[in-house]
Amino acid sequence: MVAASLLSADFGRLKDEIEMLNQSENDWVHVDVMDGKFVPNISFGQPVVKHIKKHAKQPLDVHLMIEDPDRYFEDFKKCGADILSVHYEACRHLHRSLSAIKDAGMKAAVALNPHTSVNLLQDVLPLCDMVLLMSVNPGFGGQKFIENTYSKIHSLKRMIEEKGLNTLIEIDGGVNIHNSSLLYAAGADVLVAGSAIFSSDNPEETIKRLKS
Ligand code: DX5
Ligand code: ZN
Repeated sequence: MVAASLLSADFGRLKDEIEMLNQSENDWVHVDVMDGKFVPNISFGQPVVKHIKKHAKQPLDVHLMIEDPDRYFEDFKKCGADILSVHYEACRHLHRSLSAIKDAGMKAAVALNPHTSVNLLQDVLPLCDMVLLMSVNPGFGGQKFIENTYSKIHSLKRMIEEKGLNTLIEIDGGVNIHNSSLLYAAGADVLVAGSAIFSSDNPEETIKRLKS
């Protein structure tokens, strides 16, 4: 699957960008929420997510890059989030956070920064509908893919299979038409792409190529 990240969209014509995604082969709309504290950048919050939901026909995959995210689970549910990702590094009680996301009626995902080992997920993996592996340091679009991600995908895939789970693996950062097939081959299920899609001359065609 492909999840187009709106962070690289033209915010002045956000509705048109979402309509382009609706007509494309894109699977999920990836929404990056940043607080200027967990990551150096600030993006947007609930009011914008609510408007994205009004136009998007595909599920909203909301990636919270914020500290103490538990405060906002109910809010993001109300704004239309279908899948909610919280960072391992931002949750003091991750087990509780994942349970709360599910109780609120969303799919629960954990995001790992490039420096965080997948082995730390051993005890919470059964609660994860998805694991988001950051393949750049979070905060900005358009960064270079970190090659160590492949070995993290292999280890995580092995853990998922050993436990007999069907947890999805999502890769976020520096994904493009040159590494997409290698990432799927390594075991990724969902590829997030921002600049590769929105900076290309033909975004719909790029989405098709990311999937083929
Ligand atoms: C980065 C965000 C990403 C970002 C990816 O912190 O989580 O979703 O939009 O952008 P690209 O695909 O340009 O690396
Ligand atoms: Zn993201």
